[in-house]
Amino acid sequence: MIHALARAGTYGLGQRMTQTRLAVITGAGRGLGAALTTHLAATGWEVVACVRFAAGAPDRDPEPDPDPGLVRDPGLVRNPDPDLDPGLDRVRGRVRLVRQDVRAPVGPDLLAAVGGRPVDALVNNAGIGAPARPLETTDPQTVLDAVDVNVAGPLRLAQALLPSLLAAPAPLIVNVSSRLGSLSAQAAGGFADRRTSYAYRISKAAQNMLTIALAAELSGRVRCWAVHPGALTTAMGAADATTPASLAAERLARLLDSPDPASPRYLSLDGPDLIW
Ligand SMILES: NC(=O)c1ccc[n+]([C@@H]2O[C@H](COP(=O)([O-])OP(=O)(O)OC[C@H]3O[C@@H](n4cnc5c(N)ncnc54)[C@H](OP(=O)(O)O)[C@@H]3O)[C@@H](O)[C@H]2O)c1
Repeated sequence: MIHALARAGTYGLGQRMTQTRLAVITGAGRGLGAALTTHLAATGWEVVACVRFAAGAPDRDPEPDPDPGLVRDPGLVRNPDPDLDPGLDRVRGRVRLVRQDVRAPVGPDLLAAVGGRPVDALVNNAGIGAPARPLETTDPQTVLDAVDVNVAGPLRLAQALLPSLLAAPAPLIVNVSSRLGSLSAQAAGGFADRRTSYAYRISKAAQNMLTIALAAELSGRVRCWAVHPGALTTAMGAADATTPASLAAERLARLLDSPDPASPRYLSLDGPDLIW
């Protein structure tokens, strides 16, 4: 079943891949991260899916997962009944679920799940925002918290996985960013009609700079892209969002197939490339 579904094809920078590709995705328990994990696994990738909480934990139990290496579908994190997930059979065995809060150093569970194999794609998807407040009531701590998750988190993952990325033929780091992180667009008043927190705008702009800095240092070795996924109908999405996470996941998966050697790039999944 796994081999029947596995896809082998032309991949990256003209090299031909016949083995299953490996992706590491953070924030894989829900939203875009969960949709991407399911989509990639159903189309032949192996996925190390990083979640903060134990699978099936009803109240975000802070106790360690008793079986952190267990192979599970991330849909089970929120929905422990496999009968309710008909796609589960297609992805079971290709998803390794590990606990990783991106605010913490990368732990041994994640490294064990990667197992020294080449990592073709690191998708730094985990992200947080904050309530949109005016200057008078904005808590500076929300900015520090958002930078910890949205900027230092991807940095921690990139550091820990660099040897595994360098071992892949055409490795790619995708930092799931936001169009709201564009300094140019924000300075031009492009989103003046939207209420967005200082924390989100500042941290996503800083995440974009991280993407640029990584691309400069890893030039010719690891491509580094910042990707705006569109306005998604997820927990974080705006009230007027219309794009389901599953559609964004399909689009992002196509991007992971791209052989484009350009780095850095700032892309949108639902429009033209963005301006930093
Ligand atoms: N939704 C949109 O319209 C939109 C637009 C532009 C960009 N984005 C970006 O897209 C990415 C995914 O967002 P989404 O829409 O899927 O939001 P979401 O449904 O709120 O999911 C956020 C994910 O991030 C995880 N996360 C938060 N803090 C974490 C931490 N400290 N360590 C590890 N994981 C953590 C969450 O895990 P838990 O379940 O454990 O909380 C969850 O899986 C984010 O980076 C977001 O900024 C979203």
